Amino acid sequence: MNDTVAGARGVFGSRIGFILTAAGSAIGLGNIWRFPYMAGESGGAAFVLLYLCFVLALGFPVMLAEFAIGQATRQSGSRAFTTLVPGTRWRWIGTLGVLTGLAILAFYSVVAGWSLGYLVKAFQGDFSRELTAEASAAIFTDFIASPSQSAAMAAAVIAATVAIVLKGVSKGIERASLILMPIFFLLLIGLSVHSLQLPGAADGLAFLFAPDLSKVSLRVVMSALGQAFFSLSLGMGVMITYSSYLTQKKGLPGMALSSIAADTSVALLAGVTLFPAIFSVGASPQGGPGLAFITFPTIFADLPAGTGVAIAFYALLFIASITSTVSLLEVVVAHSVDRYGWRRPRTVIGASLIALLVALPCALSFGGSQALSSLFGVQDGFFGILNIAFGNFALVIGALCICLFVGWRWGIRPALNALGVAEGSWLARLLSLEIRFVCPICISAVLAFIALTGSFF
Ligand code: TRP
Repeated sequence: MNDTVAGARGVFGSRIGFILTAAGSAIGLGNIWRFPYMAGESGGAAFVLLYLCFVLALGFPVMLAEFAIGQATRQSGSRAFTTLVPGTRWRWIGTLGVLTGLAILAFYSVVAGWSLGYLVKAFQGDFSRELTAEASAAIFTDFIASPSQSAAMAAAVIAATVAIVLKGVSKGIERASLILMPIFFLLLIGLSVHSLQLPGAADGLAFLFAPDLSKVSLRVVMSALGQAFFSLSLGMGVMITYSSYLTQKKGLPGMALSSIAADTSVALLAGVTLFPAIFSVGASPQGGPGLAFITFPTIFADLPAGTGVAIAFYALLFIASITSTVSLLEVVVAHSVDRYGWRRPRTVIGASLIALLVALPCALSFGGSQALSSLFGVQDGFFGILNIAFGNFALVIGALCICLFVGWRWGIRPALNALGVAEGSWLARLLSLEIRFVCPICISAVLAFIALTGSFF
């Protein structure tokens, strides 16, 4: 993206720049940290299967619906909705997206802070000795329970995000991801090959890929649905904002597919790396939010040159998370600039201070504060509540509203037009069917079942 984003509305320099930025937003802790732990908690393969179905059947059309809104209006947040349909309540979708963005930024920064902390540990050589799963779990529990450490790391993450967003989502990070993300991908492939050779690897693979449909509950369906949107950065306006910076509308469906393919393969690779390692030592896949952070170090400790691999891994994971936090902050900032005409630098500082304020109780939710850790009896307390309420429910509701808006209020024709999809083509028919019927029906059915049976909680 050009540095002009910092001043007037900016534009993307190139198609590849746009794909990288969209994929950069999508790929992050959602793939390496959230996907494995959710899959582990939700019984493995049944969850994975549902997740893949939701990504293809719902993620693809919702991403294109967001692209259409951003393309047609060149505006973001609630302003985009009022530009298309003035004077209606639909603009609240934009506002919900901004709130969701701040909340996700807050808890996400804490986990990104854990990767930063683990990068420091890797430099200290902590993963060079043999490490049992128990010892690794003890390191993790100590680390996250220290309020000063995890809060300081989360603050550092937010500061790094601010520095990048202030410059306008600059060429620097776009170019950096062009080189670094493929390296991250190769590193993950290497790690997964190692994991597949561990004794008991087959059990891990079976857990991940041999579905036991009796494990499907409403909770599993909702988790997979939420995770599909979370992982692709959908349902809160990231893709509206990013596509509003895109000057040419050629090939949007292809770009959506590329980002989705990249994102999904990273999540699956993370699973293929982690679960064989978990099963080979007889650990439980239900490790909760600590699962990835506890398991990866045991893998590194097992490798020749483990310290080097660990340093590379955490550095790349940190960069992958920063391209995601940047997208979250960018949505909040772009909305405020577009809607209220606020000045960009001040808005960036203001929004990040709010995120920091919310991040602090998240950082204290793992033993740092008793009250926050067990708030309302929810697992991981305040952090857990934000993670589920905003990371799952708000995104799913946001995606539902976006589909209803595009399919039934603004109209599928102008949307297809904004996407450059020829009317009457098979893609146009598919998208129309998906956006108008399949997505709204699937999502409302899941939400209605949860509301009626209360069986999620
Ligand atoms: N998708 C990112 C990940 O997987 C996280 C993220 C960035 C996100 N922006 C988002 C999630 C917007 C939901 C909505 O790590």
